[in-house]
Amino acid sequence: MDENIFLNDDRVDGIEKVTGRAKYTADQHIDNIAFGVFVTSTIARGAIKNLLIAEAKNSPGVLDIIYYQNCPPVPGYRPHDKELNKRGFEWQGLKVFNNNIVYHYGQPIALVVADTWEKAVKAAKLVKAEYITDAFETDFEKLRKDESKLKKIGEYKRGEPDAYKKAEVFVEAEFFTPIETHNPMEMHATIAIWEGDDKLTVYDKSQGPKGTQSQLARCFGLEEKNVRVVTEYVGGAFGASLRSWPNVPAAVIAAKKVKRPVKVLLNRRQMFSMVGYRPQSWQKISIGATREGKLMGITHHAVSNTSRYEDYREGIVNASQFLYDCPNVNTSYKILPLDLNTPTWMRGPGEATGAFALECALDELAHKLNIDPVELRVKNYAEMHPVSKLPWSSKFLKECYDAGREKIGWNKRPAIPRSLKEEGMLVGYGMGGGVFGAGRGNAAVKAILKKDGTLTLQSAVSDMGPGTATAMVKIAEGIMDMPASKIRFQLGDTDFPPGPTQGGSTTTSTLGNGVSLVCNALKKNLKELAITNVASFKTLSADDIEIKNEQLISKKDNTVKISLSELVNSSGKEQVEIIQESGRAAAEAQKYAMNSFSAHFVKVHVDPATGAVKLKQIIATGDGGKIISEKTARSQMIGGAVGGIGMALTEEVLIDHTTGKYINDNLGSYHVPLHTDVPHIDTWFPNKPDPVINSTGAKGVGEIALVGFAAAVANAVFNATGKRLYKLPIKPEDLMS
Ligand code: MOS
Repeated sequence: MDENIFLNDDRVDGIEKVTGRAKYTADQHIDNIAFGVFVTSTIARGAIKNLLIAEAKNSPGVLDIIYYQNCPPVPGYRPHDKELNKRGFEWQGLKVFNNNIVYHYGQPIALVVADTWEKAVKAAKLVKAEYITDAFETDFEKLRKDESKLKKIGEYKRGEPDAYKKAEVFVEAEFFTPIETHNPMEMHATIAIWEGDDKLTVYDKSQGPKGTQSQLARCFGLEEKNVRVVTEYVGGAFGASLRSWPNVPAAVIAAKKVKRPVKVLLNRRQMFSMVGYRPQSWQKISIGATREGKLMGITHHAVSNTSRYEDYREGIVNASQFLYDCPNVNTSYKILPLDLNTPTWMRGPGEATGAFALECALDELAHKLNIDPVELRVKNYAEMHPVSKLPWSSKFLKECYDAGREKIGWNKRPAIPRSLKEEGMLVGYGMGGGVFGAGRGNAAVKAILKKDGTLTLQSAVSDMGPGTATAMVKIAEGIMDMPASKIRFQLGDTDFPPGPTQGGSTTTSTLGNGVSLVCNALKKNLKELAITNVASFKTLSADDIEIKNEQLISKKDNTVKISLSELVNSSGKEQVEIIQESGRAAAEAQKYAMNSFSAHFVKVHVDPATGAVKLKQIIATGDGGKIISEKTARSQMIGGAVGGIGMALTEEVLIDHTTGKYINDNLGSYHVPLHTDVPHIDTWFPNKPDPVINSTGAKGVGEIALVGFAAAVANAVFNATGKRLYKLPIKPEDLMS
């Protein structure tokens, strides 16, 4: 057990967060602010015939009601209007208030702006709409069988298609996953402040302030430098804030119209219908092998839903192409447009869905072959990437299997399902593997060494919770050899040098490389500064100087030294500063396949009387390269496992197909795991630096923490009960039937 938690590895913003001092977007206090509350559609498809706003308009405190008939022209809504929109940019996603078309139930159709939040909420209830209704389709399971409704997205083939059929042993199975929502604690919010006609400041819940800035600049025809986006803290996101939702343009439009700053905050129900979600999916996966367990063929087909106004796609079948060594693989992926809002990336987007099918089917195959499921994976371990044929930059998945087996006590796993009982409960063990892309993007970081000897680092990234600033401070601490308490990492503001969007498990790799570059460049500058400015250093070369314990010291004579603080003072300036830009790992990606890997091991109890499943033990292992900040990486794995319990056992959005409305659009009936559902979670990392992707050796752990987890649970449930379930979430009634 890793009980001795690393006390000096605490989050740099931990105190702010737990004491409530941290300011999330909606917490920002802005003078003279007005509040915007959305009115939403109550039909799933059609058009607004008439919006009845008179009563709401006369409601106390109401400043304006914005809807399609009075929305000022938005350049990004009119990509072909050369006059208005010189750049030809088109806003992606719902163009809120652009016209009277209704694409889904719960679509924002008006924004009531009032001088207090309460007044806006009250008035929003008074707005009524008359509609022209059209027939709508929301039933994925019914419609996905109709090929004419599907859009082909991609196909892949290597070797012979459907080769599994010729194998000595094969399994074929269909898998079903529901719509899942991110539902972070913090709801989406935007505050827009026009600082003149051509200058805008926006506080927004975003995983990428730079991306939001660029979208807003282009959408509203502004210079990028005149748009400032601030995201100081993010209260969880899981992918939900990788793009902007209707609250963003709505706040900007409203602020312009009422000539006051406007805050738009979604409520929990609106989090379901205005923010994306993990799409619903159907998959069929078939795997064939020799009697000895060598994989001969994998066929994987998938369909997931999108909206009527955008094509959202994700890599559901991708891992089946490369996670295991198999000569014949064919996959296909299609999407089905429904009258719902557009789905979006959600932790392990694509892979989390695909791995459920792949890792369950492998378990079924192992059972049929009478081979241990881990052994089956080891037998088919891919030593090089089967699609690109490139070597992996690093891969320590076997080490994860070994650690997982040992820590969970895999030898206690009954070879025969439903043969082990404990305290009257059926006992099962299961595992599932995960994979996600690793890589390095662009990041610029500024380093500022002040006269008091403190170091400030800045980049316009945001932190949705993984602890980015904490990890960056650790990297700087190591390179600068100065105490973490004297280092500050500032983020969440586009006034800082451009940072990456936080997503795809690449922030530590991308930004860490930038921090490492800028710290090394700063050291070089400081040495040069000492040689020019400090008499005792004059005869030295940079190679003769080392920086440690907040001092520059001559390697030749350790009495020749100067503190960082004195050195900055000697320059006569307030501070020494430098910016470095770190680029993408493009050349590296030509030579190496780059991935993080995981293996989740779980033990479950299933109540034979009720079918209730309880997780008893979890070992989450992950090859995320070098672990920069052990505590926050561990927290990522814990969070992923909790999300995985939800995916496996509790989470699903239900739709009323008679109205097209989400039924359980609240946290009372959309069930995320509770504390009682979560056992102690043990984590393990090989912690081996990746020699290729970046200078720190880190890959990423955000997505692999979830990918494969639901399969581990389903496989453990099979081991406990002898019943294999193909539909998530696994419910007691499915086990009792
Ligand atoms: Mo993640 S789905 O890349 O925020």
